[in-house]
Order: sequence, then structure tokens, then C-alpha cells
Amino acid sequence: MKQRKIFDIHTHILPGVDDGSDSMRTTMKMLKMAYRQGARAVIATPHGSASRVSPSQCRDLLEMIQEKSQKELPKLKLYLGEEVFYSRESVQHLNRGKLITMADTSYVLTEFPYTISYRDLYSAVRELVWARYRPILAHIERYSCLRDSDCTEELSECGAYLQINFSSIGGSCLNSTVRWSRRQLMAGRIHFLGSDMHNLKSRRPEFVKAIEWMERHLEEDYLGEILWKNAKKMVRDEQV
Ligand SMILES: [Fe+2]
Repeated sequence: MKQRKIFDIHTHILPGVDDGSDSMRTTMKMLKMAYRQGARAVIATPHGSASRVSPSQCRDLLEMIQEKSQKELPKLKLYLGEEVFYSRESVQHLNRGKLITMADTSYVLTEFPYTISYRDLYSAVRELVWARYRPILAHIERYSCLRDSDCTEELSECGAYLQINFSSIGGSCLNSTVRWSRRQLMAGRIHFLGSDMHNLKSRRPEFVKAIEWMERHLEEDYLGEILWKNAKKMVRDEQV
């Protein structure tokens, strides 16, 4: 099996910032683990709400990682973003630069309480879109309102982009999250994939099983889009 290039748009690799990597050493190990499996571009997306550091400190940390990885992983490209926990102030904070968009584009990785109602999720998407942002809904497989309904297409039509985690594709087919995620992929509704890596153990970068399943069940063109091409467009701030 040929190794595929992966663009991982959802990671917690900034050391000491949130519940992700605890040190620069762990960060480099996580990146190497991802690189060995094909990751060639990674966006660091720390939890904004839990972040103990400012956007400018996040930028400094990313630069430090970039310096280190240039020597050890020269083909790896790194970008900065943030996993924004949506609130009524999010748009204001985005406008004022208090929150970080994906690679300084109009795309915003956004998460919500898992129990959010569909109505609230829909109106949050509308609000972000009206403010000229492009919301990417993080790990949509976790929201019960989406699992219980069949509204992912309607959210996309409203301007949302949908991300699921690699771990929700490669798991056991007895798992209902895996089954739901695979159905969304087979319907072509997903725009981006992310590892959501936090550490080297329980939430480490793991792509291989997910890619094996996708190679068996998805069209080659679509697989190329969700693994690489859509994210490339996103970091250029082009429409996906
Ligand atoms: Fe995350």
C-alpha cells in the first residue's frame, strides 16, 4: 500500500498550553509518529477556552516547533489555528484577534457542548457565516443532535464545514460512532479530517486503520480531497 500524504487539521501539539502535549519533547515525538504515517502538514489547534497563553505566545511556540522540526522533519509544514469553544462572544473575539483562525484565514475550527441542540448549533453557524467566517465544526460525530437527526447536509448548505476524527473511522464497526462516521463519509458529507492528537498514549496520532477503511470504501478523488486537497485550499483561504 502506498503511503498517502495527510493534512491533519486538528491537533493539540503546542506544549503546555492546554490538555494536549506536556512538553516540547512530547510534541516532537507526536509529530514524528504522525510523520511516519504520512502527515506532511499539521495545524496546531489549542483549546482557546483552556489556553493559558495569548495568541502571540501561541505563535512564538509554533515558531519554536517549526525551528526544531525543520531539522528533523524537513518535509513537514506547520500552521497555527485554534479550537474555539463557541460562545456568544466568539465573533467579537475573532474580530478583535483574541481568537486565532485557521492559518490566519476566514476558517474557524469551532466546537460546542456535546449536548447542544440542533437549533443552537444551526444559529451559531449562521452567526459565524454572517460575520464572514467559515466555521469548521470539530469532530461532528460527538454531537447527539446530529447523530439523532440527519441534518449534516443542511448545516453544510448553511455554510458549515464538517470535520471528523481519524479515530472515529478506523475503530470497530460494532461502535455506533464509527458506523455513523463511516455513513457520513460514504455520503460524501465530510470536508476535513483530524487526529485531534493530545499525547503519545490514549490520544496519539493514528491514521493507518482509518485510511485502510477509506481506501476500500471511498472514491479515490474524494479521499484525496479530504486527506489533503481541501485543507490546502483552506490554508490559502479559498472556498472548499
Ligand atoms: Fe480538539
